[in-house]
Amino acid sequence: MSIKSSPTRYGSVAIAIHWITALAILGMLISGLLAANATDDAAKLTLLRGHAVMGSLLGVLTVLRIVWWLFLDRRPADPAGLSRGQALAAHVVHYGLYAVILIMVSSGFATVILTGANLQLFGAAPLPLPDFGLAPPFTVHGILARVLIALLIGHIGAALWHQFVKRDHLLARMGVGR
Ligand code: HEM
Repeated sequence: MSIKSSPTRYGSVAIAIHWITALAILGMLISGLLAANATDDAAKLTLLRGHAVMGSLLGVLTVLRIVWWLFLDRRPADPAGLSRGQALAAHVVHYGLYAVILIMVSSGFATVILTGANLQLFGAAPLPLPDFGLAPPFTVHGILARVLIALLIGHIGAALWHQFVKRDHLLARMGVGR
């Protein structure tokens, strides 16, 4: 498989970034929701440390992904037979995912810094953790978490529709199957 994409398939770098990002987003949603619902501060702190580190890596990977597409690789053409509306919806979801990930990472860090929890997460300041809900960026973080889930449902639903209803082997473009 070639490093760069062809007009019909994604290359190995794009495929690797896609699946690592997918796993990281799943981890971020699970760790974020677990932290938000944790009643024990020590457990919440451990979850949030993992959440912050994985979120930083996800942010860096997303910037690298944008740089990759802007300067180093060219996306394959849209799958054949898409209506203009379907192609537009796919592009809105794809760019929306990039934007939401970057704003989630920024609002997460803004929440931690504004509440002073960075000293507990990355230092040894004592518990209890602050009430994150008091920091305005956390409102953005919470709303965008729901937007992200909606975008993912659209994105995954469209991929499954192509694969199993239209049967056009779309997932093979992203390295799954032939
Ligand atoms: C794409 C990246 C991210 C995703 C998908 C994500 C997801 C989530 C979710 C789903 C929640 C629960 C929200 C709620 O219950 O309303 C949450 C909470 C939180 N996240 Fe993130 N997050 C991301 C990045 C970050 C980063 C980089 C940080 C900061 C270092 C961060 C800090 C927090 C904090 C402090 C909470 C509050 C937990 C609590 O209420 O106890 N997040 N996140």
